Amino acid sequence: MKISSTFLVLLAAAVCRIAAREVLHTASVNSDGGDRILTPQNNRGGWVNPEDLTPMPQCIAQQDQSTWLSTMTKCTGKRCTSHFGVICTHHQWLTQLSCLSTGFSPDVIKGYLPYCSRSVLAKAQLYRWVRSITGRTWLVDVGDANELQNLSPASLAEGYAAANVIYKAPTCLTGSVSALLMEPFQHVMASCSFTSTTRHTGNAARPWEYSGSLRSMVSLDFETVGYDLTGHSVGYGDYFDKECFCGAFTIDPKREPCSGPGQIDWTKERLWINATCGSTSLPDNWTDLLKTTEFAYIPIEDWHWPTCVTDMPKQVTGLTDKCATDACEIDSSGYCKVKRAVDRACFCHNISYDSCGGSCHIFETRIDYVKWLHGLCGSVQDWHGLPDNWRQLAALTPRDMIPWRWTIKPSNKSDTAPITRLGPIEATEKCASNEWKLGSFALVNIAPFLAAFLSRRTGIYRIARGFLWHSHPEGWISTGILIAALQLLANWFNAFLVQNTPGYEDVPVIQLMFLWCSMPRPAWLLVLLIGLQPFEAMNFSAATSFLFAEMILQFLSSYYMILTVDYGREHNFYLGDMESLERGGSAKNMYTGALMWLIIISVAFLLSMQTIRMKDRLTGSGNLDLPKWQRSKQTTSNVAEWPTAQSNEHRTRAGYELPHGKGKSRASAETSLMRSEGGNYTVYGTLPVQNQSDSVSQKAFAKLHAVTALSMLLLWIAQWLFWDGFIGLSSEDFCPPNLGIITAVWIAFLLVGATIGA
Ligand SMILES: *[C@@H]1O[C@H](CO)[C@@H](O)[C@H](O)[C@H]1NC(C)=O
Ligand SMILES: *[C@@H]1O[C@H](CO)[C@@H](O)[C@H](O)[C@H]1NC(C)=O
Ligand SMILES: *[C@@H]1O[C@H](CO)[C@@H](O)[C@H](O)[C@H]1NC(C)=O
Ligand SMILES: *[C@@H]1O[C@H](CO)[C@@H](O)[C@H](O)[C@H]1NC(C)=O
Repeated sequence: MKISSTFLVLLAAAVCRIAAREVLHTASVNSDGGDRILTPQNNRGGWVNPEDLTPMPQCIAQQDQSTWLSTMTKCTGKRCTSHFGVICTHHQWLTQLSCLSTGFSPDVIKGYLPYCSRSVLAKAQLYRWVRSITGRTWLVDVGDANELQNLSPASLAEGYAAANVIYKAPTCLTGSVSALLMEPFQHVMASCSFTSTTRHTGNAARPWEYSGSLRSMVSLDFETVGYDLTGHSVGYGDYFDKECFCGAFTIDPKREPCSGPGQIDWTKERLWINATCGSTSLPDNWTDLLKTTEFAYIPIEDWHWPTCVTDMPKQVTGLTDKCATDACEIDSSGYCKVKRAVDRACFCHNISYDSCGGSCHIFETRIDYVKWLHGLCGSVQDWHGLPDNWRQLAALTPRDMIPWRWTIKPSNKSDTAPITRLGPIEATEKCASNEWKLGSFALVNIAPFLAAFLSRRTGIYRIARGFLWHSHPEGWISTGILIAALQLLANWFNAFLVQNTPGYEDVPVIQLMFLWCSMPRPAWLLVLLIGLQPFEAMNFSAATSFLFAEMILQFLSSYYMILTVDYGREHNFYLGDMESLERGGSAKNMYTGALMWLIIISVAFLLSMQTIRMKDRLTGSGNLDLPKWQRSKQTTSNVAEWPTAQSNEHRTRAGYELPHGKGKSRASAETSLMRSEGGNYTVYGTLPVQNQSDSVSQKAFAKLHAVTALSMLLLWIAQWLFWDGFIGLSSEDFCPPNLGIITAVWIAFLLVGATIGA
């Protein structure tokens, strides 16, 4: 036998300190008697050895035992157990059973019953003791032990719990007293506790003893209440009867043992009471202000940041530390498990959408950020950290679909600094309509033709041509560069104009200049128009110049086109469902236009390469092996020769080529142009030679030119698509002011360019 339940011993000790000390003392003194056999039958005429009596029940041991002991002492006397004749040789303290039977009357039991009947198991243990000593089948009143005859697990109406849950209670609760009985928590717990099986807490072999010095019976052992009284078993350990505990230990809702909602112990206490006894003894709104990890507190290990955490300021990232506190994670049985956690309300009230800038406001990371913020704080009371349009921010916005970040939008800065650097130019308050924006492009595309048409009728065209023809004999390279430069200059001038409009100071000139390079231009129409002129008036050099200028401008616009395609690819705009998004149709046009542009450019480039290579292979001429520009330079190196070369060529063409009857249409400007290019070199010989390889090269040039012209047309369509999409998509984010002036500048520069080129 060992002291298996220090818990109970200590509890008993708390109740009857002196008696228990005596018990422990004597128990150690008498520890040699462990091998004695309990023989209650060792009956000497109605007197028995005290040590043969059944040990004291638990609920008696936990109370003041004086009445109990004095009752037993009264029935105990010094008896002679060994005679030699009439002389007694051995005296012994024995207890008279009949005396005990009458001694433990209902009156004696009555004093102990209130405490013993808190727990049905303790009461049953007492009943068994009384019945074995007195033979009564009741305790105080007849019938009061009926329900104790056949105990079952159901007799513990509210069930039981393992005694170690008291370690989950805060010390302010375990150190408190029951509001109802003014009895300490630990005592109430002791009165309701039981063990899996009956256990001895002292000297099991010698539970009773008559102490001569105390002149009283003393108890050296008591038996714990065992769950086996119910006829069933439970895992080894200490338990307590919940019904017993919750009936005896109550808290005053107005004066709870643990104070202050801000304290973790307050939460621990309420959770402990709820888990043990249910919420009936707690106020109705007891769950308010609980520091649990259910919602109000987020365990540190479950905390996560959005993707843009790197762009968050320190005040925000530091909030998790500042708002960290202890909170209760409710375990499976409803008790508190203290966890380090972040106070959601504290965190949320110190963060709003604008707390973080940078990537937190851009596209995917913004969507992630807004969703994170809403998930975290959306349900927090009185939190308004998200802007009203947060739902839009949590999805793809039209702005996100624009691959660059700059906009053309009046800012508020100008309100305070209304200095108009360009004098008469005023900031336009309203943004031009999308139709007008596109219309200005249309004007730019149409204007040169109107001008050309008119000038042709008035003869200005011819005059201008004649003048320019002789003043710019360097040929199409320089002319092309000049035309492209003029276009760039127009773009730069317009961008500069925009930037100098009050309110538009932030507009990036260079970016805008290059973006405008991608606008649809009428180059292919110019080329076509030249082709449609009477043969003699045809200016092949002009067409080539325009094409060359166009190539330069297309090259400059490639940055924005490739940027767009790449952005679209990166963000899955090409495969994703765009139509369902706000202004998705426009976005689709823009991205389709850019992709189309890229494909056309690539295909045209490949075809041109192929054609040039084919031609080179077939002709094998050293002269033709020269790059095109070098050849052209050679062609045009002799200023004086140029017109002659042209006329020679025409003669050559008329004299030698037409009889071949190839049926080539000279209506095609491109073809003619290429012939002119291809034909130019032939005049260098002393005789105009038109051989087999020359006709092949002419065909190659024709093809090259057709490819170029067709690609120009397709590029023009792609650029319209791109700009139509971009303008629809950006809408009020792309509002160049003074659109009329800008358009006029473009047209003017274009006309100048056209004049130079022609
Ligand atoms: C309170 O106890 C009841 C029953 O034991 C349980 O269902 C409920 O979840 C508990 N409440 C809290 C806040 O833990
Ligand atoms: C619970 O309600 C009472 C009034 O019914 C109020 O005085 C008390 O402050 C409330 N407690 C909490 C924690 O909300
Ligand atoms: C958070 O905001 C509250 C006011 O809403 C303030 O009292 C508290 O000090 C702030 N906490 C931190 C860590 O800034
Ligand atoms: C300009 O300022 C006004 C108030 O002065 C404000 O309502 C408006 O939103 C501001 N616009 C921009 C673009 O900042």
